[in-house]
Amino acid sequence: MAIDRRHILAFGKIDTPFYFYDMDLFRRTVSGLASLSSRNGIKVHYAVKANTEERLLRHISSYGFGADCVSGNEVEYAVSCGFRPENTVFAGVGKSDREILSSLKLGIGTFNCESLQEIEVVDSLAASLGLTANVSVRINPDIDAHTHKYVTTGLYENKFGISRHEFEPLVELLGRCGSIRLHGLHFHIGSQITDVAEVYGLECRRASEIVRWFEDKGLVIANIDLGGGLGVDYDDPDGNPVADFSTWFRTISSELPLRPGQTVHVEPGRSVVAQCGTLVSRVLFVKSGETKTFLILDAGMNDLIRPALYGAYHKIENLSAMLSSESPADADASGSQIYDVVGPVCESSDVWGAGRLLPRSSRGDIIAIRSAGAYGQVMASRYNLRDLAPAVYSDDLAAAGGDL
Ligand SMILES: Cc1ncc(COP(=O)(O)O)c(C=O)c1O
Repeated sequence: MAIDRRHILAFGKIDTPFYFYDMDLFRRTVSGLASLSSRNGIKVHYAVKANTEERLLRHISSYGFGADCVSGNEVEYAVSCGFRPENTVFAGVGKSDREILSSLKLGIGTFNCESLQEIEVVDSLAASLGLTANVSVRINPDIDAHTHKYVTTGLYENKFGISRHEFEPLVELLGRCGSIRLHGLHFHIGSQITDVAEVYGLECRRASEIVRWFEDKGLVIANIDLGGGLGVDYDDPDGNPVADFSTWFRTISSELPLRPGQTVHVEPGRSVVAQCGTLVSRVLFVKSGETKTFLILDAGMNDLIRPALYGAYHKIENLSAMLSSESPADADASGSQIYDVVGPVCESSDVWGAGRLLPRSSRGDIIAIRSAGAYGQVMASRYNLRDLAPAVYSDDLAAAGGDL
């Protein structure tokens, strides 16, 4: 397992809550992604929104990957962490003029534009600077990604991308924009996609049809960006620590035929960083309610909002109980109990997991909330004026011999 006895002993000396990053797993994930993507001729842009820890970004950029950003600040930060501007794409339905101008000045690779009006604005701002902007057009392919409705982005009911009824006006618009160069088409249909072959197969076939439609109108679609979305195993992070990049890329290679001169791009976020991160917390109190027993942790929804926001599942482990037992069988023998594991924030949605079976737990026990590396620390807030949970890296623990 990723977290071993040495880690747990070291955690006991650190103030909680904090985000622990298993850097060995992170490096293994990134190098696996690099070798599989280059073998399949697929260009990777890491979706910076998933985790913006500088150390992680510097390692990812050192592989020559690009960055997928959704704000002007992300663009500037990604470049400051070693991503090359020309490998940086700027997506999002609502880019401000200030963000567009600063990204143009930085010379970013592509604006992934999401509406006709946005294309007109990018064109006129580029003209005002005497520049030509590379633009990829985000298409809404109306595909169900079989995932949570809050992370589905490729259906007509979603705000993202340009849909079919605007294809003809789009061709006409691109024809009259003098400060735009068409880079390609962009798709992104959702996140935490686990029906990998089926959903991405469908996305590739739909993308192929749409690319053909635009090329038949005389446009050159040199780049096809299929977005991110590859899911991770939240139920069994130790059984499946690395996401299934292999099925993802195999599906793309077989379902999206390319003509010479075309390149496929992807934008993974969650699959790169989710499993290496754990939110480490302590039990503050064990409270017997009328009908339930509550395990009250010192980490709350302000530290990791996914359960409150999406009802997301994260595996919860009592690390102190693991330490005191020689084997899982011993842990069972010491007794287990059903708890509602909750945080300290003054909201009833501040629940880590209801009805979770855990080893009998006590005040001070160290609790791990697993698979917290993606959309965790980046979404943290200071709600209730709580402190932000800092990052702790396995490399630093090892270097300090377990003491920080
Ligand atoms: C346009 C775009 N690309 C890539 C991603 C990354 O998705 P994931 O973290 O699921 O791989 C997102 C996530 O929302 C996105 O909106």
